[in-house]
Amino acid sequence: MNTLIAENIRDAKLSEIERLARIWFDGWQDAHARIVPAELARLRTLQSFEERLRTALIGVRVVEAAGELVGFYFLKGTELYQFYVSAHARGSGIAATLMADAEAALRERGVHTAWLACAIGNDRAGRFYEKCGWSRTGTVTEDLEVAGGTFALDVWRYEKSLR
Ligand SMILES: CC(C)(COP(=O)(O)OP(=O)(O)OC[C@H]1O[C@@H](n2cnc3c(N)ncnc32)[C@H](O)[C@@H]1OP(=O)(O)O)[C@@H](O)C(=O)NCCC(=O)NCCS
Repeated sequence: MNTLIAENIRDAKLSEIERLARIWFDGWQDAHARIVPAELARLRTLQSFEERLRTALIGVRVVEAAGELVGFYFLKGTELYQFYVSAHARGSGIAATLMADAEAALRERGVHTAWLACAIGNDRAGRFYEKCGWSRTGTVTEDLEVAGGTFALDVWRYEKSLR
């Protein structure tokens, strides 16, 4: 059993981009590298995550445990756009605490039905979202953000009513 506890959830700082990019890159490798096209995997470099975090920084929320950053999320409109927890913090309940913060932030924006995209075959994330009360509504094609353009990928769509 993982007994790590979330100590603090707060806005990210500019000085934390490299650490957050590492969490994103490692989590992306763990969850996606084996289940998405190799062409997309080649585009998901550490530097690409740093650049996207720099652009998104003002909306990025982070969670700390045992004095270090162990996860983050950010939103895009009504979408829970990115959601990642470090390997050593998985299975601890920290992800659920972070999810509660994300749902509160979506409610504050006036979102009634939130959605997220999850790579087909990312079963751990799917199980986690279902435990948090999200429902898979189907498979949709998403134009994923990549350097200089987009990459079309079929994904599972999840939704949750926040009313
Ligand atoms: C998705 C993520 C945030 C969930 O956090 P977590 O701490 O791992 O979540 P939990 O351990 O509370 O829940 C995961 C559930 O999946 C189960 N699980 C673990 N491995 C699994 C697998 N290979 N297949 C199916 N379910 C699995 C766990 O047993 C647990 O279910 P349970 O509580 O009923 O036993 C975290 O795993 C993560 O950051 N993963 C890498 C990045 C990622 O995939 N992000 C989401 C992008 S859409």
